Amino acid sequence: MSHKLLGIDVGGSFIKAGLVDVDAGLVVGELISAPTPQPSSPEAMMPTIAALAARLPEATGGVGLAFPAVVKNGRARTAANVDHAWIGADGAALIRRTLNRDALFLNDADAAGLAEMRLGAGRGVSGSVIMLTFGTGIGSALFVDGRLFPNTELGHMELKGMDSEKYASAHVKAALDLDWRAWMDRVNEYLDRMQALLWPDLFILGGAISERFADFAPLLHCEAEVRAAHFGNQAGVLGAALAAAEAGLGGPMTL
Ligand code: BGC
Repeated sequence: MSHKLLGIDVGGSFIKAGLVDVDAGLVVGELISAPTPQPSSPEAMMPTIAALAARLPEATGGVGLAFPAVVKNGRARTAANVDHAWIGADGAALIRRTLNRDALFLNDADAAGLAEMRLGAGRGVSGSVIMLTFGTGIGSALFVDGRLFPNTELGHMELKGMDSEKYASAHVKAALDLDWRAWMDRVNEYLDRMQALLWPDLFILGGAISERFADFAPLLHCEAEVRAAHFGNQAGVLGAALAAAEAGLGGPMTL
């Protein structure tokens, strides 16, 4: 029997969920989603997550919860694009209480990066890789020879006197109604800064950029190789479930 774990990817704008066949390494069927409640406090989010989970009753085993914050020792430590009531919250315990399932709680970009490194654009790549996700914020995940350095927050690196995610995220493109060329100019400035500081062998770009990469890759100029994320908006859900399975939550509930 294959294990189908529930993967959940919380974003500043939407919460996505999907069933992940962790043996085959793929999302089964379509992702489902719901708008992130506002305020996006833990109490407000749990009913939304429960409603999404109820639509995926075939799930077995534990849950992977990808979240847009630093997660240390199971607790959120920051909350840039979600309600500050999350700071200090134990995401796995909240999921256990809400869904009666064991859970793994991790940063959303780390989850997306794990999916890409294990099965997607970074599969088999050694050396240093930086995965960047462009959404409400900018998420980052750093890998050396496939091993994750967790909780990097490179979307908060200063650029133009502000948090770089306030300058170059997909949200900023929409909010300022930037065309693709103007947005890619900003992304290039961001990549230049990363390049100067970290000199990776490969950048993997996820989020809105990966969806139209063939059209807009020619506008990107970067010393390192740049690839589009393979899993697009599924990467966080997939990576969260894979991480839960790797943490031993693949089977029946272990509580
Ligand atoms: C958060 C990160 C997160 C990124 C993408 C940033 O604002 O600080 O933890 O990975 O957004 O969601």
